Amino acid sequence: TTVEWEAASYDMGGHDTYMHKEIHEQADAVDRVLRGRIDERFSTVHLGGLNLDAREARRIRRVKILGCGTSYHAGMIGAQMIEELARIPADAEPASEFRYRNAVVDPDTLYVAVSQSGETYDVLAAVQELKRKGARVLGVVNVVGSAIAREADGGIYVHAGPEVCVVSTKCFTNTTVAFALLALHLGRTRDLSVRDGKRIIEGLRRLPAQITEILDQEQEIEKLAARYAEARSMLFIGRVRGYPVAREASLKLKEVSYIHAEAYPASELKHGPLALIEPALPTVAIVPDDDLLEKNRAAMEEIKARSGRIMAVAHQHQEKADETIVVPKNEDELDPILMGIPLQLLAYHTALALGRDIDKPRNLAKSVTVE
Ligand code: AGP
Repeated sequence: TTVEWEAASYDMGGHDTYMHKEIHEQADAVDRVLRGRIDERFSTVHLGGLNLDAREARRIRRVKILGCGTSYHAGMIGAQMIEELARIPADAEPASEFRYRNAVVDPDTLYVAVSQSGETYDVLAAVQELKRKGARVLGVVNVVGSAIAREADGGIYVHAGPEVCVVSTKCFTNTTVAFALLALHLGRTRDLSVRDGKRIIEGLRRLPAQITEILDQEQEIEKLAARYAEARSMLFIGRVRGYPVAREASLKLKEVSYIHAEAYPASELKHGPLALIEPALPTVAIVPDDDLLEKNRAAMEEIKARSGRIMAVAHQHQEKADETIVVPKNEDELDPILMGIPLQLLAYHTALALGRDIDKPRNLAKSVTVE
């Protein structure tokens, strides 16, 4: 069973689908998750609901993030940000797997449950199991007062506003920003310098305008979607910061267009997936302008040498790619927040070209509240 779909209660605001509306709400949504939280004086952020004092924050030895689907992917990005900015070992795992494997629960680990709805049963069950074993659990949740928010010891509301489309877009983006805030907060409680704190705050402030810049490219992305809609399958590649972006983009395309898609770390191509490359299998490559740029270029070259077609999402035009969607550059650590946004539009327009039921894809429900 599933939670009743509440579309009728929310206005479409002139858009044809909720997915389109919610994609276009992202600049405002990000503005909301930042509002009132930035502390210029100490180059950090205030997260009132965390219920974690500085002494406790310093005692954390690991961070384990749990969520499902898109929320899990946001958690993968969150784990990387926490490692980079706070230098605390962190990883993300599907809550649906975690709850069944009798995981070792460690008192020095901070557990973070991520959920748009706050009602996903697999996540809730993981939280309850953790609490039964004495763990401290934070929630990164959109729906205020939801089951996971109530069960957690504290947390961060992501303030994306109501998300009606079954396919999550704006909540994903806001969740990644919420994780950037958590990473900055933990970092500044530990060894992140004032200078780096400032750099990240400035980056966060640039996000809403940069999101608008990406969404302004919708017409070009729509044209690309018309070309790629014929594909029977697509490959998404990225490495390190780009990999969770590839994972989420691949899920988006699958859910809404029903085109088969697979995400792979670009670094793993030569260990198997290169065998798949041929003109009929297009690749979307996430190519941030960071210290792995040359590695990503080399991966694109490998694909080109096998006559594969490539669409790059990058900070500058990529010669090896057949087409490049250029996104604005932010701080390296924050780039993953932006790089998936054009691919939400790609999934949307591909689904539209194929005549899919965009807001309510077959076999899916907004919240999965049972086993
Ligand atoms: C997102 O597009 C999906 N429909 C799905 O993966 C979703 O993210 C997942 O079921 C988790 O939902 P939650 O965030 O409400 O817990």
